[in-house]
Amino acid sequence: MASILPHGGTLVNRIVEDGNRDEMLQEAEKLRHLPISNWTISDLDLIGVGAFSPLTGFMNEADYQSVIEGMRLADGTVWSIPITLDVDQETAQNLQIGETIALTGQEDNVIYGTLTIESIYKVDHDIEAKNVYKTNDHEHPGVKKLFERSVFYIGGPIFVLNRKQPAKFNEFYYDPEQTRQLFQQNGWKTIVGFQTRNPVHRAHEYIQKSAMEIVDALFLNPLVGETKSDDVPANVRMNSYLALLENYYPADRTFLGVFPAAMRYAGPREAIFHAIVRKNYGCTHFIVGRDHAGVGDYYGTYEAQEIFTNFTSEELGITPLFFEHSFFCLKCGNMASAKTCPHSKEDHMTLSGTKVRALLREGKCPPPEFTRPEVAQILIQGMAEHVTS
Ligand code: ADX
Repeated sequence: MASILPHGGTLVNRIVEDGNRDEMLQEAEKLRHLPISNWTISDLDLIGVGAFSPLTGFMNEADYQSVIEGMRLADGTVWSIPITLDVDQETAQNLQIGETIALTGQEDNVIYGTLTIESIYKVDHDIEAKNVYKTNDHEHPGVKKLFERSVFYIGGPIFVLNRKQPAKFNEFYYDPEQTRQLFQQNGWKTIVGFQTRNPVHRAHEYIQKSAMEIVDALFLNPLVGETKSDDVPANVRMNSYLALLENYYPADRTFLGVFPAAMRYAGPREAIFHAIVRKNYGCTHFIVGRDHAGVGDYYGTYEAQEIFTNFTSEELGITPLFFEHSFFCLKCGNMASAKTCPHSKEDHMTLSGTKVRALLREGKCPPPEFTRPEVAQILIQGMAEHVTS
């Protein structure tokens, strides 16, 4: 039984593990060192393990331009989010094309990898912001991050020499090669990937389970890289996922593994990116609900679904499953969406994120129609710890 092909046809592997590693590390010591942020270390690692296949490094100018203008790499492969490495102006002026540099952790000085410079270029953040995020408003968390970066980027192929060890939940980190193998071992032919940066509330559960009715298994793949500060911390979320899975999901058809990438909040373009990456992890289907990867009201409710019409199913390779805004309907007595429920808004239980946070902060569980009590308890505890820490 063959798994779904990775994006671009081959699963990239740039992790140096064998005997070469010691030699390469010794060589890297002598190279020019470029300190990189945790965000970039996570991108480096995701390129290395093939989660970002077919990328083999940080984008060169041709790929970057092509991605921001037309959501494709220079060779035409669909790709929607720039994966780039910025350097300050002085560094950009001193680096040479063809030079190999060592990428070191800003915080710990560890050599995480090497990059052979193929391209040194200057970008326009305003254009990048408007094309990728559809806004140049600095209030947008992704745009804010973008404008904090230098306008000088370098691109080229990488190798990973060291990998950052997660502080917690180590057992839920799987590389695409491992998830692919695990899916096969379980005999799953169709697997739906679910991206989330939030606790799983009943609406999430409903769309996941609706999808599970038509595929073999669910890959619950929460993003645990950098998120904005008011998102629920990943550790608390992980405990809430475990409680939910234990109590409400069939163990032989669900699989929990984290997605260690940073959140861009790029809405529609990030939905394409999220789908492609989940294909690399071996998913055949991917859930896109309402306002996927959105923030504030920068994107229309279903824009992250509409963007998929730009691509053929062959060039995407993974099948998106679209879901409308879902809620608990008091009259129906079950979860529903406008597609399945005839009742009016007054009968629908919808709570804003602000309202839910306020309830949890007061130590109160949101209604069980909104959040499972086991999840609510963990969130209440997490909030209390967050406040006191
Ligand atoms: S996201 O930024 O990771 O997309 P979130 O964790 O809230 O945010 O959403 C995870 C997935 O569930 C996304 O595909 C999103 O569109 C979908 N989703 C969230 N809430 C709802 C809802 N009430 N109805 C339908 N889809 C939803």
